[in-house]
Amino acid sequence: MIPESFIQDLLHRVDIVDLIDAHVPLKKAGANYAACCPFHNEKSPSFTVSPTKQFYHCFGCGAHGTAIGFMMEYSGMGFIDAVKDLANRAGMQVPEQEGRRREASDGPRTVDLVEAMTQAAQFYREQLKASPKAIDYLKQRGLTGEIAARFGMGYAPPNGLRESSLDYNDPRLTAAGLLKTGDDGRRYDYFRDRVMIPIINPKGEVIAFGGRIIGPGEPKYLNSPETPLFEKGRELFGLPQARVALRETDTAIVVEGYMDVIALAQHGVGNAVATLGTATTATHVQKLLRQVDRIVFCFDGDNAGRKAAWRALENSLEALPEQKTIGFVFLPEEHDPDSYVREFGKDAFNRMVAQATPLSDFLLRELGRQCDLTSAEGKAKLVADAKPLLQKLQTPLLRLQLVKRLAEISGFSQTEVERLCELRTIAPPAPARAPRQSPAATFMKKLIRLILQKPALALRLPIDALPGDLPETRTLRRLVTTVRDMAEDGGAPPAYAPLLERLRAGEDDALLRAAASDLMHEPFAEDEIESEFAGTLDKFARDAQTSEIDALKAKARALGVAGLSADEKARYVALLSTHGNRSRETPEAS
Ligand code: UTP
Ligand code: MN
Repeated sequence: MIPESFIQDLLHRVDIVDLIDAHVPLKKAGANYAACCPFHNEKSPSFTVSPTKQFYHCFGCGAHGTAIGFMMEYSGMGFIDAVKDLANRAGMQVPEQEGRRREASDGPRTVDLVEAMTQAAQFYREQLKASPKAIDYLKQRGLTGEIAARFGMGYAPPNGLRESSLDYNDPRLTAAGLLKTGDDGRRYDYFRDRVMIPIINPKGEVIAFGGRIIGPGEPKYLNSPETPLFEKGRELFGLPQARVALRETDTAIVVEGYMDVIALAQHGVGNAVATLGTATTATHVQKLLRQVDRIVFCFDGDNAGRKAAWRALENSLEALPEQKTIGFVFLPEEHDPDSYVREFGKDAFNRMVAQATPLSDFLLRELGRQCDLTSAEGKAKLVADAKPLLQKLQTPLLRLQLVKRLAEISGFSQTEVERLCELRTIAPPAPARAPRQSPAATFMKKLIRLILQKPALALRLPIDALPGDLPETRTLRRLVTTVRDMAEDGGAPPAYAPLLERLRAGEDDALLRAAASDLMHEPFAEDEIESEFAGTLDKFARDAQTSEIDALKAKARALGVAGLSADEKARYVALLSTHGNRSRETPEAS
């Protein structure tokens, strides 16, 4: 583990402008620097670097990060290597975190779990070298030692971690899902006599394992249970290894199995990743579309594969931005990507990917299969079935295409299809201020921007008083807790760049990126931050009171004053007295 304080120092020491300028020549543009984005093709520069906040943001493709993030994206390094590389340039020595602090009450911290997982992975790798049986198995599947090393593959011996130097009573091993406690209270290894495949997050940390039985047997794969490190619906297997190929091809191939990813890589198809025994989620899709413009789902050629493809389609619709495309490859019935690439090779596989069925074709074809399109009833059913799917789409152009084709097939007019599906107009993705925002969301966003600019404010924000059900509030909470955690660990509240690094491990957050990029263009004036902060909190509190008063008033009007409970009446009176006469000035709505 690299201590967090070191990351902070490093980001402080390295100047992101110098760093990026050495790879992508930058031009001064107002307070910032700009260039054509190295991460996507463009003619006019939308890639912007902030010298004061030490991060980059591309207004074209959304690439966003610190100096460390830049090294990872640009050179395809993992987190640790990027840190080492930067430290080298800055003449700093990367320390290893010594000893582990642990509160007996809280259970192990996530950094400690990661450390345990890393040690286990290393043990499994060593065991693979010593197991002719496991080596033979991999060889017989056509895998070389190189590819096994690239994916960090290992072998869990029949006695599991008992043979390792790890302490079997270490609570980290249980918390990380490496050991289980039986009914009799005894511990035993979760993974025994299996080929081990580590799941590595974008930070380069081992967060889980998949273990394959050697040869036939049940269950074929065991996966780590969900732990504080590992949440299945968010993670993709093979993402760090695919980074460079993703950039080169601008396409992510999503497959179902660990071994599919590894076999494809073995045959030179490096841009494949796998979901982990779960359906593809919108989060998966979002993660990938941040790195590439195109996703191709390639599932097994059987019935289950087609079902999985349909689930992927359903979950992609809401996450699909304009100008990104999704395709589907259906392999011959008897194949999965592993067997296909082994039999027909890289070029044949890549041809299938290039000719993937577009999302709209797949959608209409599948819906059409379930309706008798020769009858009026069947055509009506087609439109009815399409309704929930069209409603999820956020991309006006693709939706229009689908509406047109549905109109053709069903015989309804385009307007009729739109009405039947109750399609609301989609606001164009305006870079200008979003039009219909709830006032609370606007307040939250402003608070996020204020805290990003001046993280110390987080220490003074009453998060419990914020409304809980908005995405903006969730982001704000996460931001505030992170700042507080970091301030606790290290003293001073962190600046934006270290904060961004800390948040890297968690979910990618579009709201945070958007707020940071707003700040790039329109930072608050330093001497206004305090008053903006106080003003926002104050206005927010007053608005909340107004709406509470309005709600009570509406209830009283509907049910009569007797309809209010004693508490509600007391609250109403109290609110009116603290709130002054403001609400009485608002005209009665009835
Ligand atoms: P498959 O059954 O398609 O296996 O499972 P595969 O990828 O072709 O594996 P090989 O080639 O026989 O080794 C696809 C994925 O479903 C999950 C795993 O993530 C696997 O990679 N799975 C499958 C499990 O979690 N448990 C199982 O028992 C089987
Ligand atoms: Mn297979």
